[in-house]
Parts: sequence; structure tokens; C-alpha cells
Amino acid sequence: MCGITGYIGYREAYPIVVKGLQRLEYRGYDSAGIMLFDGAKAQVSKTKGKVADLEEITLQSPEKKSGNIAIGHTRWATHGVPNDVNSHPHTSVSGDLVIVHNGIIENYDTLKKELISRGYTFQSDTDTEVLINLIEEVKKHENCKLGKAVQIALTQVTGAYAIAVFDTKKPNEIVVARLGSPIAIGIGKDNSEFFVASDASPFIEYTKEVIYLEDEEMAIIQVNKEVAVRKVKDDSLTDTKIQQLQLNLEQIEKGGYEHFMLKEIHEQPKAIIDTYRGRMLADEGIIKMSGVDDHIEKFLNADRIIIVACGTSWHAGLVAEYLFEDIARIPVEVEYASEFRYRNPIITEKDIVIAISQSGETADTLAAIKLAKSKGAFVFGVCNVVGSSIARETHAGAYTHAGPEIGVASTKAFTTQITILLLIALKLGKEKGKLSKSVFHSYLQMLQLIPSKIEELLAIDGQVKHIASIYKDVPNCLYLGRGFNFPVALEGALKLKEISYIHAEGYPAAEMKHGPIALIDENMPIVVIATNKGHYEKVVSNIQEIKSREGKIIAIVTKGDITVKEIADHVIEIPETEEMFTPLLTTIPLQLLSYHIAVLLGKNVDQPRNLAKSVTVE
Ligand code: G6P
Repeated sequence: MCGITGYIGYREAYPIVVKGLQRLEYRGYDSAGIMLFDGAKAQVSKTKGKVADLEEITLQSPEKKSGNIAIGHTRWATHGVPNDVNSHPHTSVSGDLVIVHNGIIENYDTLKKELISRGYTFQSDTDTEVLINLIEEVKKHENCKLGKAVQIALTQVTGAYAIAVFDTKKPNEIVVARLGSPIAIGIGKDNSEFFVASDASPFIEYTKEVIYLEDEEMAIIQVNKEVAVRKVKDDSLTDTKIQQLQLNLEQIEKGGYEHFMLKEIHEQPKAIIDTYRGRMLADEGIIKMSGVDDHIEKFLNADRIIIVACGTSWHAGLVAEYLFEDIARIPVEVEYASEFRYRNPIITEKDIVIAISQSGETADTLAAIKLAKSKGAFVFGVCNVVGSSIARETHAGAYTHAGPEIGVASTKAFTTQITILLLIALKLGKEKGKLSKSVFHSYLQMLQLIPSKIEELLAIDGQVKHIASIYKDVPNCLYLGRGFNFPVALEGALKLKEISYIHAEGYPAAEMKHGPIALIDENMPIVVIATNKGHYEKVVSNIQEIKSREGKIIAIVTKGDITVKEIADHVIEIPETEEMFTPLLTTIPLQLLSYHIAVLLGKNVDQPRNLAKSVTVE
């Protein structure tokens, strides 16, 4: 949560940092702020609201927009309500030091009391203001420079941080550090300028060279000097690795779509191809995945696969449970990372833990990985963001290569995660002799057709929009599915509540009788996934039960369906495919339905209230 960014160099820093903050708004948008150093003093502007509100308030004060050094912040509130005072940047009591911070200082209360006893006063309710005053206190006490003060102060804090700190008395540097929250440093040509950010998106048009700090690392960034990365613990130098960014500008812009979410829904055919490109050779009947191939014995001899994830990624994990058990005959458990990490789970060296995370930064998933590793399990990551914390923390993994997902409600991350997990399940199924060569081969051929089937489905957008216009004002909605499509029902319900704030629940269709049926009346829309394979007849019976109670049915059926068409109020047809691939198709109309309902209701689709894309706090 929270995005931080900064600039030091020869350009005007304001437009760079403000644009950077806009790109980081997916990390939180409760408040925004910026500090610019104009050569004489630090100018801080901050406000409750979005980066657009920040731009509004700085419009009237051009003097607050000039300077070649800046740090900025977009907030997802943890300590203290989202108001102007709690917004970042925060300044130390003397006014000398300025900080932006992403993370939580857990022992802030103890530190605050100590600082108060030494005469410090506080304006805000934030843990961040405590940290900047702690740095100031250390600097005074040790009579040292900013970098040293940051290093010593950080050894006294517990929690998580990604920080950028500036000293108005030594205005030629920005000090950055990380623990648990990400920091990328962009390096300008010949070290003539530097960029700092929670991810590389704020600086992709300026440089492709980046250093990602590891946990408990810090750096003092000065123009015309190479960045030296140090360990917070003992100030020792580390091996600095400069990486080349793969990201380009086009990928993080809306490209003519009204919202990122819509763009990302439409990107799914390409994203899925990018996921299996080079891995699936359908004509030759081969799946190559180095992360799996290099550890194949572990996978083949695993007693169990434990999947840990949160949110939409957890739903992808549930689909994978069906896939691994059905195709590869390996027992699977799917866990909310937040529960798993505190449950004293039984994990052995013969378990494989698969961590799924779009951002690769989710705090609970990261903690679950560390726990599993400490118990000897082999941990495999399925991440989208290259170089993310989870990607680095796992023993091996596979990137989804979906490209940046900016809409807070996850769409293409879900379908590409399922694609990766399908590839692994198919590969293991074949290696374990559970799938014959010819069946395996035909599955690959079928999977290769999925992107064009999604293209076909996207063309029914107008029909989905019409259904959305009928149901947009309902207070509740139920989603039902079975087997491979039970997790899709959960995901459909999650999408609706995330962006339209309509209460929605997903259920396995057969469980309807054990509770949700009591909710059904003539005002309740029920989205039922009733594709022609699997448990079709059973789901048809469920639909009959709903109709007898006058519920409104929106059914997702296979093209050519006759039975459901006669009973349902609306049907949305998906192209025919093998049952295990249906989640990749049934998901699409559910994404579109939520999208259109939210748009018709005038909601902020890409930045729904209270949510953040990357949940880096527990
Ligand atoms: C947040 C996002 C969700 C996402 C979940 C897990 O809640 O809003 O869209 O599914 O975090 O995120 P991850 O990056 O680990 O997949």
C-alpha cells in the first residue's frame, strides 16, 4: 500500500514526480503529497484525495512547483484517517528532514513516547512522523550525516518500510531504504539523474536501467555518483545489480480505452498467449517451463501441493486445486495466506508450496512463503511483476507475463495465473503418466484455441451491457458455479462487490440449498455458470429451484444450449471447450458484467473506494 516516488537531477522534478504518483495510484489514493526543494527551501504540498487534487492545490502556487529534487507520496491510510495532516511527506520537528514512507512502523508508539519525553511534538497520527523524528534525533545525538542517521534509526524500528528521505541542510541527496515494501532506483545517463519509486513505472520513459533494493538495504543517491547499496544492519556494501527494464510506456497507458480495467479485460487473449509463449509447443506436444523442469523430481515426488494466495489470486489457486487433482492426481490444499501464516500449519520437506500473486508484494503471501521455507518446503512462485519480492523470495517460479495490471480489480492476472497453473498441471499429468501422449497433445491444441475464443466472447460486450443496465440497481447478487467453475463464481462475486459496491456472494451451486436460497425472491439476480460439461444436469436442477422462487437467472451456458435457454431470464453463450479450460472463458462475461454495472452506477472503476492493488501491509 502507498506509492512513493522521487527525483534528483537536472530536470524540473514536479511533472516527473506528479506523473509518477499517478502511475502509482493503484497502490492507494486516500491522499497525495509532494516536497520540492527549490534551491533554498523545501516546499511541501499535500492533501486528502487523489493526485488530481494535489495538482489542483499546487495550481495556485507556482513557487511550490519548481526545483530539481522532489519526493512524493500517494497514500493508503493505515495509521490515522486520510486527511491533509496525515498525508505525506512528513517533516521533522526542526523542519530540516522530510520523508515519504510506504509500510508500517509497528513499534511507533513506544518510539513516539520516547521522543515526546525528549521534547518532540507531533502534528499527525502517523507512524511516519515518528520515524522522521527518530532519524532527526539520531542525527543530532550522533552528530552524523543523514545516511548514517537513517541507517541507525532503522535498526531501532520493527515493521515494514520503503522510504525516501531528504535533508534541506544537505540538499544534494535522497536516502532510500527498504524492508518489506519495494523500492526501485532508476539510473539516468552517466548518473546525471536518478529516480526512485515503488515500482519502475514512474520512470520508464527516462531510463531502462534499474536497481531493485533487497530487504534491509539502503542507498544514498547523489547526482554524478554511482549508487552504492548498503546493508541497513551493519552499513556494509552489497553487490549492486543493475537490471534492464522490460516495461514500455504503451503498456501502462489506457490505449484508447475508457478505463484500465476494460483495457485489461480486452488484453486477455494476448496476455494468455504471452503466458504460454515459448513454454507450450502445441504442435510438438511439449511444455517447457524451466522453473518446473529444473525441479521436476520434487514436483513428481511431492506428497502434497499447498497453494497460498490472497484475493483473486486465491481464486486462481482454487481453480488450480481442481486442475492438479484432476489432471496430475496430486492432493492440493488452498490456503488464504493470511490464515496459513498464523496457523502453525503442518508442512514437510515433501510438500510443494505454490504462492500466487499478481503484484508479488502481498505482505501475507510473502510471510506465508517465509514460513513454508523455514519448515523446509520447496516454494514455487506464480507472479506477474518481474523482480517482485515474492518472485525473489521463492526457490523457483514462473512469471505470468500478463503485462502491467493497473485496474485495482484483477482481470488478466486471474486468467493468466490459471493458464500457468494449467500448464504445470498438464506437464505433471503427462510426466506422471496420468495423461496419455495423445490426450496431452489434444489438450495443448485446445488450450491454444482459448485466446481466439476469448476474442469471440469479447464481442458480446453489448449484450452484457444490456443485462447490466437491467440489474445495476439491485442491492444483492448471487453467483453459483460447480467444479472448475465454483471458483469462477467466487471471482465473479468479488469483481461485482469490488467495483460497484453491490453485495455479492459466490457459492458452489449445490450449497445454495444450505442458506442462500433463503435470500431468493423476485428481486434477486443469480448468475449461474451452467456450461454443458461437468455437472450440467445438477446445475439445471438448481436453476429450476431458483425459478420456482422467482429469482432472476443470468446463465452462462455453452453455445447451442437449449435447456437452460428455456428457463433462464438471460443467457450468455461461451464457445465450446474442454471442461478444465472453461474458467478461462466463463470469467470473461462476469468481468464485463461487473465493469458495466460499475460504469452505469458512476463508480470509479479503476480505483474503487478503500481498496488498493497491492496490499503490502497485513
Ligand atoms: C488486493 C487486490 C486484488 C488482489 C489481491 C492479491 O486485494 O485488490 O485484486 O487479488 O490484493 O494481490 P496479489 O498481488 O497478491 O495477487
